[in-house]
Amino acid sequence: LEKINNICCIGAGYVGGPTMAVIADKCPEIQVNVVDINQARINNWNDSDFSNLPIYEPGLAEIVKNCRGRNLHFSTVIEENIALADMIFISVNTPVKKKGIGAGQASDLKWIEASARQISKYAVGKTIVVEKSTLPVKTAQTIKNILEAHVLNTSNDKKFSILSNPEFLAEGTAINDLENPDRVLIGGEDQDAINLLIDVYLNWVDKEKILTTDLWSSELSKLTANAFLAQRISSINSISALCESTGADVNDVALAIGMDKRIGLEFLRPGPGFGGSCFKKDILNLVYICNHYGLYQAAKYWQTVINLNDWQQKRISKIIVEKLFGTISGKKIAVLGFAFKANTNDTRESPAINICRDLLEEGSNLHIYDPRVSQDQIKMDLGHSQIIDSQNLLFEGKWEFSKSVELAANGADAILVLTDWEEFKTLDWEKLSKIMRSPSWLFDTRSISNAIEAKSFGINIWRLGDGALN
Ligand code: NAD
Ligand code: UDX
Repeated sequence: LEKINNICCIGAGYVGGPTMAVIADKCPEIQVNVVDINQARINNWNDSDFSNLPIYEPGLAEIVKNCRGRNLHFSTVIEENIALADMIFISVNTPVKKKGIGAGQASDLKWIEASARQISKYAVGKTIVVEKSTLPVKTAQTIKNILEAHVLNTSNDKKFSILSNPEFLAEGTAINDLENPDRVLIGGEDQDAINLLIDVYLNWVDKEKILTTDLWSSELSKLTANAFLAQRISSINSISALCESTGADVNDVALAIGMDKRIGLEFLRPGPGFGGSCFKKDILNLVYICNHYGLYQAAKYWQTVINLNDWQQKRISKIIVEKLFGTISGKKIAVLGFAFKANTNDTRESPAINICRDLLEEGSNLHIYDPRVSQDQIKMDLGHSQIIDSQNLLFEGKWEFSKSVELAANGADAILVLTDWEEFKTLDWEKLSKIMRSPSWLFDTRSISNAIEAKSFGINIWRLGDGALN
């Protein structure tokens, strides 16, 4: 192999879709086939209306528009596209195991294994297999064993090389992160294969930003990066509570410590706790691996990052109940934002899910507005909205989907900001104060709304971590 002409990506999700779109955009000479077993998802990727793509990411639709049908293809034809490929990225899901050994902590590798088996069966000639999914350290060995077992059983000339190339994109900024990565990490043993992957990235990434390591360091770096990022959030969230108790302002504290170059300003935003499909699962996996190697203190250390995150979410729902005179039964609360962060329609592990559940359990009447999350998605996360009528209901309260902030806030006792969407920064507090029921409250868990203005219109304010204002 001298150069990569054909790439296949298994998994057309949040990582596979945007990553392959950017590769296709930057490398017009490479044919990129993204395959998935989920027909509905593939249909959405192929929809003539680009607003129906299965994933919302700023800039993604434009790139898909440019490349789809030219050198970017989405399909469920897995076998043929594996056979055509010089390089295969595995971007399938690796969620936490639900049952069996390691349930609740270890990664479920069944989709990885299924992909490896398909590759071993259908690949032709020399194929470079790239781990794009986030995997427990040492998974490359498992993949290698599966691939090689098949080669031993057949007489053809299949040959595999395995690389680890973790993805560091964050949702909501995926395209920018892919186009301007801080670094590209490639782990492997086969220098020729490494060079071929480097050549793909060199189409748009500076050479100095491409870091190569052994397989295990690369796999472990991904889990470690997420654990460190999440740890910063839990650290500042622990201080947010202390600020509320002492009259300090956590945003000032974050700025004051972040200006120290050794600490840095990024990823110090206090909030309702981290969500998203990665942080919790990857730390749980790290905890599992540490325990597996008998490193119990290390495991405990990382577990506390998750514990603090759970506590932060619980803390917020408790404060809301307390401030609303100890009961929210039957009270209307406008929930602004359901996605786990701004600029995405993703709700996986969103702190909004746990906080809303707690509020529903207290009997409140939630009106949820999010600019990108659909009513169906919220239904999947919270269950059907149910009105109090009998004992055996999942929740006592009920929720409704609102199409605008105003509709959600109309007659509400409180507005609860859970996601940092841009539009929540410039709400019309004069108007909102008139349509809410007094005494009205604003609970801002992201410190993004203009709380001072809201206060000037008679709204009571609770801002996370702001001991001076509350
Ligand atoms: P996802 O669930 O959105 O997408 C995975 C896709 O793989 C699904 O569409 C599924 O149908 C498909 N799939 C599963 N098994 C398959 C098979 N055998 N053949 C064909 N298709 C198959 O997941 P995601 O968010 O894209 O994450 C994928 C991986 O990337 C995970 O390991 C995750 O930890 C990692 N990761 C995610 C992010 C993120 O921001 N979401 C960032 C970095 C890394
Ligand atoms: C994360 C990693 O950032 C990314 O590198 C990795 O590839 C996948 O996991 P993602 O989960 O998409 O990305 O978004 P991220 O921006 O990291 O936010 C995760 C959660 O932390 C969100 O709920 C966000 O609101 C929260 N967060 C983030 C904070 O509460 N404070 C911050 O300062 C930053």
